[in-house]
Amino acid sequence: MKKILFATSEAHPLIKTGGLADVASSLPRALLKRGHDVKILLPAYASVVAKANEAGVKKVAELSLSGQTINLLQTRLPGSRVTVILVDIPQFSEREGNPYCGPDGSDWSDNHWRFFVFAKAAEAIALNQANLDWQPDIVHCNDWQTGLIPALLAQHEQKPASVFTIHNLAYRGLFSYQIFAELGLPNDYWHHEKLEFYGQMSFIKGGLAFANAITTVSQSYANEIQTPEFGCGLDGVLRARRDDLSGVLNGINMDEWNPGADKLIAHNYNRRTVNQKIKNKTALQEQLGLPVNEAIPMLGFIGRLVDQKGIDLILNQMNQLLTHDCQIVILGSGFASYEQALKNLAQQHPKKVSVTLGYNEAFAHQIEAGADIFLMPSVFEPCGLNQMYSLRYGTLPVVNAVGGLRDTVFEKPFDDIGSDGNGFVFHEATAEDLHAAIKRALAAYQQPEVWKQLQQNAMSQDFSWEKSAERYEEIYSAITA
Ligand code: ADP
Ligand code: GLC
Repeated sequence: MKKILFATSEAHPLIKTGGLADVASSLPRALLKRGHDVKILLPAYASVVAKANEAGVKKVAELSLSGQTINLLQTRLPGSRVTVILVDIPQFSEREGNPYCGPDGSDWSDNHWRFFVFAKAAEAIALNQANLDWQPDIVHCNDWQTGLIPALLAQHEQKPASVFTIHNLAYRGLFSYQIFAELGLPNDYWHHEKLEFYGQMSFIKGGLAFANAITTVSQSYANEIQTPEFGCGLDGVLRARRDDLSGVLNGINMDEWNPGADKLIAHNYNRRTVNQKIKNKTALQEQLGLPVNEAIPMLGFIGRLVDQKGIDLILNQMNQLLTHDCQIVILGSGFASYEQALKNLAQQHPKKVSVTLGYNEAFAHQIEAGADIFLMPSVFEPCGLNQMYSLRYGTLPVVNAVGGLRDTVFEKPFDDIGSDGNGFVFHEATAEDLHAAIKRALAAYQQPEVWKQLQQNAMSQDFSWEKSAERYEEIYSAITA
């Protein structure tokens, strides 16, 4: 049994902007189930405190660090027995909205301070100096928001071991030298092997330089980030640490994403009753005002509307795609230019394209259940959860062969699908290649036997957290041995 402090800036269902939240909720649960003593450390954002109040929240400590008073609140992850400690400073708890940026989409100007103080709180807990009477064996950090934690811990002799998981290397947590100086970090940390990154400070480098073990969320992404193409300027650091870097594929929450029991969808179905899935499509067509017709293939997309997700590839082949008999259902939010382009498209083609801007969990489930084909043409994808949800729902994914997409989706010739063909894969991130893959998907859809076999393969895959949690256990053991 290990005591694990799991530091994260998001955890579903308390706060979520992307897949990190799903992982930060599922992995601690899986570790708890395997007998570990896990506590999640999370910022006390206003919306989190509101939700936590429903489950019950109590103040467990008050710290004074770097001239700031920090309250530690304790609650539970709703629907689980996992303890959550909330780092309560006004910069978190007195601000509505997105955890990282304001209503105009630009980063909160004090993000460096918010996540520095968060790291200071983690450091105090890790050293058992937070009046919690609990000292972890492992501090597991996630993404740039927690990058300073291993860097702060490195200053101490007696300290827990640290793991840093990269969910997305593209967000490096970059700030000026002036901010580095303001935070009072040790002078020698201003070094290219530590926090300095081409004249700026990078929070994520704290994790990459100082954590005992580095992980990322798929084996392919672990390989890719060691190359200049995917390394975001950090590939050198990662190559230097290749012996401490491993890829552990994420699992999914198999209870929440289960077409057989999903309460958010119109009709439940499973592998054996997959022919019932079509009722979810007609329900969605009705709900969205699209022509109701079982035979028209429906393509779905859900995600953050950012460059990573390949929205421009989707947009750039749209004219060709619209020559086919199909419907396209999109849910997402993000860059204003993508939102506008998608809205225009839906206005021009109301019978074929439906676009919903915003964040809507129930609707995400309905698209997974209702669509036939799921588009995920990401230009890079550390793991990706939506393709796994899609596979589980028998909604066959079309993906670019990168990161976790390459590791979970496999295309086989129609006459040799075997037991692992489960989707459609293209190998160059271009609109042409995406469109060619969509055409293969539409062709397969016209061959019911082929389609059924692909669905059976997809729906038989095991994406439970067990295997991944075991891998993390091995890593924890290796660094505490
Ligand atoms: P990323 O973390 O890069 O955004 P993932 O595929 O790992 O990508 O995870 C995205 C998660 O966020 C999924 O659970 C997906 O369903 C959810 N999601 C993204 N955008 C939306 C949205 N607009 N509405 C509802 N859920 C969304
Ligand atoms: C990131 C990545 C995504 C991954 C998620 C959870 O947001 O973009 O690919 O699935 O983290 O690890």
